[in-house]
Amino acid sequence: MMKIFSKIYNSTPKQILCAIRNKLTPRGPQTAVRRRIAEELRTRFSVYQTPNLKGISAEEFTQYVQSKVGTIDPHSEGYSPDELDRQRDSSVKFTWGHNHDFGSFKMKGLMGDRHIGEMANFMAMFPVSYDAFKNSNVLDVGCWTGGTTLILAALGSRVFAIEEVKKYADMASFLIESFALNDQASVNCLSIYDCDSEKFFDKFDIVYFPGVIYHLSDPVLALRILFNSLKIGGIILVESEGIQTDEPLCRFDGTMIWKGGTKENLDRTGWNCFVPSPSALHRMMREAGFEEIQTLWLHGRKRVYGYGRKVASVGICKAGLSVRNIR
Ligand SMILES: C[S@@+](CC[C@H](N)C(=O)[O-])C[C@H]1O[C@@H](n2cnc3c(N)ncnc32)[C@H](O)[C@@H]1O
Repeated sequence: MMKIFSKIYNSTPKQILCAIRNKLTPRGPQTAVRRRIAEELRTRFSVYQTPNLKGISAEEFTQYVQSKVGTIDPHSEGYSPDELDRQRDSSVKFTWGHNHDFGSFKMKGLMGDRHIGEMANFMAMFPVSYDAFKNSNVLDVGCWTGGTTLILAALGSRVFAIEEVKKYADMASFLIESFALNDQASVNCLSIYDCDSEKFFDKFDIVYFPGVIYHLSDPVLALRILFNSLKIGGIILVESEGIQTDEPLCRFDGTMIWKGGTKENLDRTGWNCFVPSPSALHRMMREAGFEEIQTLWLHGRKRVYGYGRKVASVGICKAGLSVRNIR
């Protein structure tokens, strides 16, 4: 009770109204629709089990996957000794990304079932259906150990996945190869910021961008690079940790604010930069050039979601931009 009184006392009338309205509005996508989509996605994902491996035995596959978990190898990421202390725990120690039932064994991921759940959220909330993914060129941004890449491939997309952490890009590549998806998907050890070149311009129908924007030092630049990578008519799907306010605000954590875990176990989470409200994400997307933008707060998940389209190759304001010659 005291907590509620103190919250009211410390809020402006506008914030109180916003909180009441949020309590009264429906909680996210219609549950039944979302559940049906998630079930369908789960079924499609279930093809990635050991009986369907190609060119590798189930034993070899299992041994390789399991051997990587917990490996501490900062040097393979190229960190110098003086910067080692400042790196994200999960970039130093191999941590499995998405839950995966391989049939003969299961991997529990730090990301849980996000690869299924967030795709179901996007499809339940925004004008994007199974058809949108089928035969589309999709840029999968920050794929961790590849759960998102695999689900996109299961939807019939041609996937170009990027992941800045080499150990995860290697694992995701291994999965792609082991399930003989090389003609349909590739995983590349790249940062978004490496994708500002001719090779990426106007290439993709969809940019799939969940779980990454709040980790970035320069979210507007990243959105611009992703905007440039889309064909005209292409769409972006964004999901982010967020803050719940009507105001266009971001919370700045920085890379020295952690949540759970300990330094000794290298299992701390966090390493967030700008954590946006829905209207802040809307403004960032508009700044990058997107139109038809929808952003929203999903109560059940307490996360921010965004949808936008590249309607035309519009320019970007160069004042204050960190890469002045960006397209
Ligand atoms: C929270 S995980 C989200 C994984 C997945 N996209 C999902 O939605 O479940 C963030 C991933 O993005 C990667 N990442 C962070 N910054 C990146 C960047 N600038 N370029 C490419 N990948 C990045 C991280 O290494 C990590 O694997």
